[in-house]
Amino acid sequence: MWQHQAADYNESGNAASTTQLANLRSTLELLAPFWPSVRIVQQPSLVAARLFDPDSLHFVYLDARHEYEWVLLDLKTWWPLVRPRGFLAGDDMSHPPVEAAVLDFAASIGVQVHRFDNDFFIVRPG
Ligand SMILES: C[S@@+](CC[C@H](N)C(=O)[O-])C[C@H]1O[C@@H](n2cnc3c(N)ncnc32)[C@H](O)[C@@H]1O
Repeated sequence: MWQHQAADYNESGNAASTTQLANLRSTLELLAPFWPSVRIVQQPSLVAARLFDPDSLHFVYLDARHEYEWVLLDLKTWWPLVRPRGFLAGDDMSHPPVEAAVLDFAASIGVQVHRFDNDFFIVRPG
């Protein structure tokens, strides 16, 4: 969202808004060669998800809050938007609540979790 968030969010990832603004500026510069193919959506992930149609996305990468409930909510929200044979991936598998949410979600839908370093991905069956 590129801004500091609620007081109940106690992680280093919840950076000050000045840091978030600097990160946004860096991101804009890095992505400059790819305009106008890129869109930056400054919304909570659950709101941003409403912009996309079901079964439409080739690749989704999650890197938000680390609590089990939040990760599970993001997974449940974005998974139906991924197209068949598309990828849902994310960061922070070294955080036990993130890992637990990913493994529980994957088990609930019967897909295998692929891991590399701190990342994971799951693939929608075709
Ligand atoms: C773990 S940090 C990752 C930041 C960046 N991707 C990186 O690797 O440095 C999580 C970021 O996601 C943001 N965030 C947390 N929950 C979010 C949500 N529901 N929607 C959008 N952004 C969220 C936080 O403000 C923070 O900037």
